[in-house]
Amino acid sequence: MAILVTGADGYIGWPAMLRLAREFPTERIVGVDNFARRKWVEEIGSVSAVPIATMPERLEAARATGINNLSFVEGDLVDLAFVQQLYSIYKPRVVLHLAAQPSAPYSEINGERANYTQHNNTQSTRNLLWGLKENNLLDSVFVETTTTGVYGQPGFDIPEGYIEVERNGRKDTIVYPGMAGSWYHMSKCHDVNNLWLANSKWKLSVVDLRTAITYGTKTDETASDPRLATRFDFDFYFGVVVNRFAAQALAGFPITVYGKGDLKRPMVGLQDAVDSIVACARREPNQKFDIYNQTSGPVSISDMATSIERSARALGIDVEIEHLVNPRVEKEEHQMVMENDRFIADLLPRSTVDIESGVRDTIESLAPYRDTLVAYKDRFIPEQLLNRVAVS
Ligand SMILES: NC(=O)c1ccc[n+]([C@@H]2O[C@H](COP(=O)([O-])OP(=O)(O)OC[C@H]3O[C@@H](n4cnc5c(N)ncnc54)[C@H](O)[C@@H]3O)[C@@H](O)[C@H]2O)c1
Repeated sequence: MAILVTGADGYIGWPAMLRLAREFPTERIVGVDNFARRKWVEEIGSVSAVPIATMPERLEAARATGINNLSFVEGDLVDLAFVQQLYSIYKPRVVLHLAAQPSAPYSEINGERANYTQHNNTQSTRNLLWGLKENNLLDSVFVETTTTGVYGQPGFDIPEGYIEVERNGRKDTIVYPGMAGSWYHMSKCHDVNNLWLANSKWKLSVVDLRTAITYGTKTDETASDPRLATRFDFDFYFGVVVNRFAAQALAGFPITVYGKGDLKRPMVGLQDAVDSIVACARREPNQKFDIYNQTSGPVSISDMATSIERSARALGIDVEIEHLVNPRVEKEEHQMVMENDRFIADLLPRSTVDIESGVRDTIESLAPYRDTLVAYKDRFIPEQLLNRVAVS
């Protein structure tokens, strides 16, 4: 039996590989990646703050801790023939699809990057879905981490995937329509539509995890050896807001809140994200299209900045919060309320990370890499905003 993990070299994918290997010791955990994330970050002139080992070094280190059921295949999921070959060899009972170009700002650099992002993401997903059908593997469970960003910013509470619609006295329940705010997020709306199609036409069992902003530096497994560490990005393009704020605080750079900072964003700690992905691998096929909001709840950007300021000051670091003109098109006053009851009940009954301790832990564990953060601090915000920040 095998579990296939796409995006196995990534921020979430690598810790998921390690946890799966421990949770399913009698199964082979097969990771796939084309190392594109390493190239994108290099291309925009940044680095992972936490040094990351090469894949052969990672696998060697995993073996040294007694993990012997990991395999890795390098390849591009955009290539259908590669995906077909992968399936014909491993016949996975579960596919955990985490591979994507996941940065909204990167997808908006220019038309070429927008095309690349949507082509890379949606073609990979279509290949993985059609590959299951053409290899008679439709009794597998297909899990994808899409994004909470598919919901946009509606003026009502965000449901967990499905929404009731009433028109002219008649009602139906439909999949919430894609109302994303970037070309990257829209690639995931296209994925959601294709997941829906694969479920409704072929009865493929699908779990669509609408993943929230994922923050933190480590899980129990990645912390057990420096060669098992996962990447940590802090730049404008690839550093998600919490991780970027934590890095700014440590580098002595002001925490740069876009606009007033009242906007609420859904969050989830890395350890919780990995736990809930692993919980999906325990599922039996049920021929359903299950959607979960993979978040422990929304937090306002200002509250997040204040929490990071508090944690940094506790470590003796003097931190300022600065409000910048928002470079993003978004409703700044949007008070996001997102339902997540089914997610917590089914996939994360025991959350290990609350936001305050998660932030504190992120800052403390990043402290050894302060020199890297200082050296790359011009990567925190876009070039056009750099001269507006008073750097100490
Ligand atoms: N990190 C977050 O805050 C967050 C939030 C919402 C959704 N997600 C989703 O979760 C998943 C994992 O995110 P992450 O933060 O670990 O991103 P990541 O970039 O670190 O990991 C994705 C991995 O996929 C690989 N990849 C991309 N295209 C590929 C292709 N064509 N063939 C083979 N490999 C390919 C990359 O090299 C990378 O290692 C993504 O689908 C992302 O969209 C992440």
